[in-house]
Parts: sequence; structure tokens; C-alpha cells
Amino acid sequence: MKILRASSRDVYDLAALEIRSFAADDTSQIARLMYPPEKQPPYKEQIERRAASISDNLRHHLIKAISPEGKIVGYATWKSPGQDSVDITTSNGPSFAARFKARVKETRKEKMGQRQYWYLAMLVVDPDYWRQGVGRTLVQWGLHLADASGTSTCFLEASVMAEAFYTKLGFRTLGWDQVQTDVASHDMCRWPYMLRE
Ligand SMILES: CC(C)(COP(=O)(O)OP(=O)(O)OC[C@H]1O[C@@H](n2cnc3c(N)ncnc32)[C@H](O)[C@@H]1OP(=O)(O)O)[C@@H](O)C(=O)NCCC(=O)NCCS
Repeated sequence: MKILRASSRDVYDLAALEIRSFAADDTSQIARLMYPPEKQPPYKEQIERRAASISDNLRHHLIKAISPEGKIVGYATWKSPGQDSVDITTSNGPSFAARFKARVKETRKEKMGQRQYWYLAMLVVDPDYWRQGVGRTLVQWGLHLADASGTSTCFLEASVMAEAFYTKLGFRTLGWDQVQTDVASHDMCRWPYMLRE
């Protein structure tokens, strides 16, 4: 497997991969809310939106994992120290996505303050390639960069399913966040945030 920098030509493939990967995590309440099964794939609108947002991340360390057959099987977005914007531009608005985005930024601001840290903003692996070392390779790529930079501290928000995976890679759970969902039962949606020092 090869790790390469992603380019603007990749953003639609990365967006489709991301949605397929999150949607395949049937333990994730967030995935169910963002990609409800009734709006079946190919989730065209979501892919458009995510591709635009991934394009913005081309200025960060946007890396893709390529299988021996030449297929993109995973990707990660690593942000260098000082590049993670925690300005709360999204209000505590009516949608679940808005509340979720506001919550993760508030927590990073509160927990990390003025500390320097690398931020793993996104990590996804094609479900057909789970448990084959792709995720580990994409995380370790960033950890090596962090260590070489002299700032080894890294922060991320995990999915519930990924907590054990990140723990194996040297992260520890700092705490858990939650926001209320939009569904009538007003369930809370929870996720861990994690630190590596
Ligand atoms: C979480 C995810 C990135 C893991 O990727 P992966 O390529 O399957 O992981 P790897 O094969 O590199 O696994 C590395 C280690 O973690 C373990 N691991 C992987 N997924 C795990 C899981 N769900 N639960 C427990 N351990 C897990 C592996 O067994 C392996 O352990 P080992 O070192 O003892 O062999 C992938 O499942 C995924 O894309 N999930 C959906 C999106 C997501 O949750 N992203 C992360 C949150 S933003």
C-alpha cells in the first residue's frame, strides 16, 4: 500500500469513500443521523457538499492510501499545529450537524486552549479494506510527522467504534461529548475525544 498526497482530482472519490465508510458503521448513531438508510446511496447531495469541504482541506495534509491495484482505499486529513480553526462560526443552530460542529470546536478550544497540537480532522477506510492495516498506516504517517516536527501532541474526535483502534495507536480518551439528536425521542448522541502526547 502506498500513501500519497491527495489532489483536487481526488475530492469526489474521497467524499464518496468517506460517506460509504461512515454509513457502513452500523454502531454509529452519528452515521445514522448524517446518512439515514432511507436516503439510500449514492447520497449525491452529500457527496457534493463533502467534496467542496474536502477541497478546502487541500491546504492541509490531505493524504490517500492506494491499494496495490491502484484503488483509493482510505484517506486522512491532518492539520498542523496552529491550523485548526476553533472559532465557533456555527451557532448552536437547529440542525444536528450544526450542533455537532459547534460542540466539537468548543471542546477543542476548552481542552487544548493555547496548546500546540496536530489535529486528525478525518480518517476513513473503505469498508472492504477494514482490518488490513490501512487505518493504522494513515495514522502513523501523521504521528511520524508530528514527532519529527517537535510537537508530538495530537488531538482527535473518534467514533465509538474507533476508540479501541486509536487506543492501540497511543491515544487516550480525554472525555466524552454529546449533543441532542433531531429525532422525536431526543436521544443523546455521544462520542469520545482523544489525545496523544
Ligand atoms: C476506524 C477505522 C479507520 C479503522 O481502520 P482499519 O484500516 O480497519 O484499521 P487497521 O486495520 O489499521 O487496525 C489497526 C488496529 O486496530 C484494530 N482495530 C481496527 N478497527 C477496530 C475496531 N473497530 N475495534 C477494535 N479494534 C479495531 C485492528 O484490529 C488493529 O489491531 P492490531 O494492531 O492489534 O492488529 C475504520 O474502521 C473506519 O474507517 N471506520 C469508519 C470511519 C471511522 O470511524 N473513522 C474514525 C473516526 S473519525
